[in-house]
Amino acid sequence: MNLSTTYLGLKLKNPFMPGASPMPDSIGAARRLEDAGASAIVMHSLFEEQLANEESVLENEISKHLESTPEAASFLPIPTEFALEPDEYLKQITDLKQAVEIPIIASLNGITEGGWVKYAKEIENAGAHALELNFYQLSTDVNETGADVEKRAIEILKSIKQNLKIPVAVKLSPFFSSLPNFVRNLVASGADGIVLFNRFYQPDIDTEELDVLPTLQLSNSFELRLRLRWLAIISAAVPTNYACTGGAYTGHDGIKAIMTGATTVQFVSSLLKNGPEYLSTIIKDAEKWLEEHEYTSIDELRGSMSFKHCPDPLAYERGNYLRMLQGWKV
Ligand SMILES: Cc1cc2nc3c(=O)[nH]c(=O)nc-3n(C[C@H](O)[C@H](O)[C@H](O)COP(=O)(O)O)c2cc1C
Repeated sequence: MNLSTTYLGLKLKNPFMPGASPMPDSIGAARRLEDAGASAIVMHSLFEEQLANEESVLENEISKHLESTPEAASFLPIPTEFALEPDEYLKQITDLKQAVEIPIIASLNGITEGGWVKYAKEIENAGAHALELNFYQLSTDVNETGADVEKRAIEILKSIKQNLKIPVAVKLSPFFSSLPNFVRNLVASGADGIVLFNRFYQPDIDTEELDVLPTLQLSNSFELRLRLRWLAIISAAVPTNYACTGGAYTGHDGIKAIMTGATTVQFVSSLLKNGPEYLSTIIKDAEKWLEEHEYTSIDELRGSMSFKHCPDPLAYERGNYLRMLQGWKV
């Protein structure tokens, strides 16, 4: 079965890889991911401003996960080992490149133009094969319009592209009012790929302590559906490379994402729960499905369930929505 795929100009042996997470903070885990068949490695983000308390929230949550799932201790670096400082992050790129043969995709998460460009350049100089930009931002300013938010992202992307030679993918949240239009503008402004979707880690409220409870909850398979819907719509309208992230757990999930137009599929929660080796099961299951359905390559499958052949996706979506609601029997 020919699973080979080109993503962001990188020739990959298959479309399945671990998404951005602390896993590759450990060289041992990175090697285990490569042995399990990962076609590339996405590092966790280097945050432009690494706020001390956000860092400790993440550390606490990971610690909790380590306690509840002892197996995770074998592949999740203990929080104090997180290479969160920029110098350590850059060194980790170099170390990973020496330790594994698959491409290394670094990740940046920031909000000001200056910071992004400076770090992006350093990441490139450290040898990353590609860069993922995570536009993780909540708009909390009533004076800021949706158009302002998109404009700023486009400006950041343009200045990074002007300064970088390596390919750049943009990781988005689903919370934009017209995603196809925004994605088209990002691609026109130089994005080499689009990663759908970022997850926001919504805090809960402690009603007794009147406090905010930051929680890091791993995803579930249901979350994949949001990605499938948007991939089907956007990939048909804007040709570029797409990575699906969020709710992909199995080989079957991977197949669905490719069907809707994903070039690659990223797995995080699934591997944090089951360990890096689980990626080999994912890849084998996807391969088995392709064989059973008489495909000879993954390329043959790509986009078969996108809206490419649907003249009016909006009417189709609304039609299905109405049929579903009206079909409900009480
Ligand atoms: C512990 C943990 C750390 C993560 N760190 C990052 C990060 O640094 N940068 C980023 O873009 N996404 C990060 N993510 C988000 C994942 O890359 C992914 O988009 C998200 O978990 C949805 O995929 P999943 O359903 O396969 O988990 C992180 C997720 C988890 C669970």
